[in-house]
Amino acid sequence: MSLPGTPFSIFVALLAAATACTHFMTPNPLFVRNLIDFSLTFSSSVIPSTIPYKLERSHHNHHHDKKTIQNICDDFAPDFPPPDTNTTSILCVDRNGCCNFTTVQSAVDAVGNFSAKRTTVWINSGIYFEKVIVPKTKPNITFQGQGYASTAIVWNDTANSSHGTFYSGSVQVFATNFIAKNISFMNVAPIPLPGDVGAQAVAIRVAGDQAAFWGCGFFGFQDTLHDDRGRHYFKDCYIQGSIDFIFGNGKSFYENCQLNSMANPVPAGVKSINGAVTANGRASMDENSGFAFVNCSLGGTGRIWLGRAWRPFSRVVFAYTFMSDIVAPEGWNDFNDPMRDQTIFYGEYMCTGGGANTTMRLPYVQRLNDTQASPYLNMSFIDADQWLQPYT
Ligand SMILES: *[C@@H]1O[C@H](CO)[C@@H](O)[C@H](O)[C@H]1NC(C)=O
Ligand SMILES: *[C@@H]1O[C@H](CO)[C@@H](O)[C@H](O)[C@H]1NC(C)=O
Ligand SMILES: *[C@@H]1O[C@H](CO)[C@@H](O)[C@H](O)[C@H]1NC(C)=O
Ligand SMILES: *[C@@H]1O[C@H](CO)[C@@H](O)[C@H](O)[C@H]1NC(C)=O
Ligand SMILES: *[C@@H]1O[C@H](CO)[C@@H](O)[C@H](O)[C@H]1NC(C)=O
Ligand SMILES: *[C@@H]1O[C@H](CO)[C@@H](O)[C@H](O)[C@H]1NC(C)=O
Ligand SMILES: *[C@@H]1O[C@H](CO)[C@@H](O)[C@H](O)[C@H]1NC(C)=O
Ligand SMILES: *[C@@H]1O[C@H](CO)[C@@H](O)[C@H](O)[C@H]1NC(C)=O
Ligand SMILES: *[C@@H]1O[C@H](CO)[C@@H](O)[C@H](O)[C@H]1NC(C)=O
Ligand SMILES: *[C@@H]1O[C@H](CO)[C@@H](O)[C@H](O)[C@H]1NC(C)=O
Ligand SMILES: *[C@@H]1O[C@H](CO)[C@@H](O)[C@H](O)[C@H]1NC(C)=O
Repeated sequence: MSLPGTPFSIFVALLAAATACTHFMTPNPLFVRNLIDFSLTFSSSVIPSTIPYKLERSHHNHHHDKKTIQNICDDFAPDFPPPDTNTTSILCVDRNGCCNFTTVQSAVDAVGNFSAKRTTVWINSGIYFEKVIVPKTKPNITFQGQGYASTAIVWNDTANSSHGTFYSGSVQVFATNFIAKNISFMNVAPIPLPGDVGAQAVAIRVAGDQAAFWGCGFFGFQDTLHDDRGRHYFKDCYIQGSIDFIFGNGKSFYENCQLNSMANPVPAGVKSINGAVTANGRASMDENSGFAFVNCSLGGTGRIWLGRAWRPFSRVVFAYTFMSDIVAPEGWNDFNDPMRDQTIFYGEYMCTGGGANTTMRLPYVQRLNDTQASPYLNMSFIDADQWLQPYT
């Protein structure tokens, strides 16, 4: 609501982009339709917000015509949210004011510092225009949305507007044990033009250890997902961007995710590169970080690299992943620093699709054998048995 008018153009742009990339291959054939529904859902949830429709609960039971007074809160079960138990607490967020909180941040603020309980912040459908911070003092928070195409936290900071890329995230998580389910994180700053400086716009920064994302969406262009530090799990997520759209020094396992390149379409025959999926920031041999993608799919537009070596010991593996032919034959980039060729670890294993042909890959790219690939193929990569709770 603080950004009147902004969403419509952005969602129209998203919609146009989604329908333009008809060759996008994905395990979920409903993707384009989902994105269309997404725009429509959001548009319709924004439009009525200019009308003062929030009415008192049960008001209409007494007088008048039921049809003329419709209570938007009627869908809420009267006993929701349930009372706290000794292990969990649920806080309810609804932008229309149907339960305790109207913003996500106000719910986060109400969580006790260093609570040992898990607090689920239940977030109703709609767009929440706010910048959200989950501070270090608030471990064990879950954001539960109603679907990545129905619930989103959206802001529009850029590197320029927020003292640097690292602070531009619409959501920033510094706490440990953070979980997000069925919700999207979006940055709707203007799409960077080629050569733009300071236009990086992060959707979420994940800077706490032991974070898990299930069925989430990440929407942006340059630097969408700041996988900053700590061990992270992403399952069934949709991640879109153009340049370095998954970047940082986290140690992360991406399973069954859809990666969608939004780089400008490149005409056949043109060899220039205009996008990169990853920019992993592993800086030294001592660091245990890296990104593993397993059973994912990569499509969209542009002519892109799978990764570029933001730091000298950058480490990324793609396994069992479908890649469309938007991936340039050389595959990867050393950030124009040949010294890094000795220290980066870029591996591919059992990938399929036109972009997965490794014949023309640069010499430092590793075609992993079974033994070399095995540490990257399951959740033991992120010590999941020590912390990851099954999805419930
Ligand atoms: C974010 O959107 C608001 C409202 O449209 C606008 O005033 C502001 O300049 C935008 N910020 C950036 C960095 O684009
Ligand atoms: C939590 O509550 C349950 C009953 O609801 C009780 O059996 C259990 O002992 C309690 N646990 C603690 C740690 O208080
Ligand atoms: C939520 O609202 C209910 C009823 O208005 C109130 O009893 C309860 O204390 C509130 N909970 C929080 C966490 O603010
Ligand atoms: C958490 O701690 C901060 C200061 O560190 C304080 O300002 C805030 O009120 C505390 N929040 C709660 C819910 O206790
Ligand atoms: C809460 O967070 C602390 C510190 O990160 C952790 O030790 C504890 O296991 C967490 N509790 C739950 C219920 O997740
Ligand atoms: C960011 O700020 C720099 C310096 O003020 C300016 O040159 C540049 O155009 C700005 N970038 C964007 C995308 O506004
Ligand atoms: C929520 O995410 C889970 C895990 O990815 C998925 O199985 C489920 O269908 C999603 N639910 C909704 C309502 O989107
Ligand atoms: C892989 O690329 C090479 C060189 O461009 C080509 O000769 C070969 O036929 C391709 N392999 C497949 C399976 O498409
Ligand atoms: C895999 O590659 C490594 C390193 O080149 C080699 O030492 C090992 O013998 C290979 N293992 C298999 C099963 O081929
Ligand atoms: C996961 O991978 C590790 C090491 O690569 C291996 O030891 C373990 O057996 C695997 N676990 C499963 C469930 O496949
Ligand atoms: C990847 O998919 C294969 C085939 O469906 C399955 O056997 C394997 O367990 C999956 N691995 C992960 C990490 O999801």
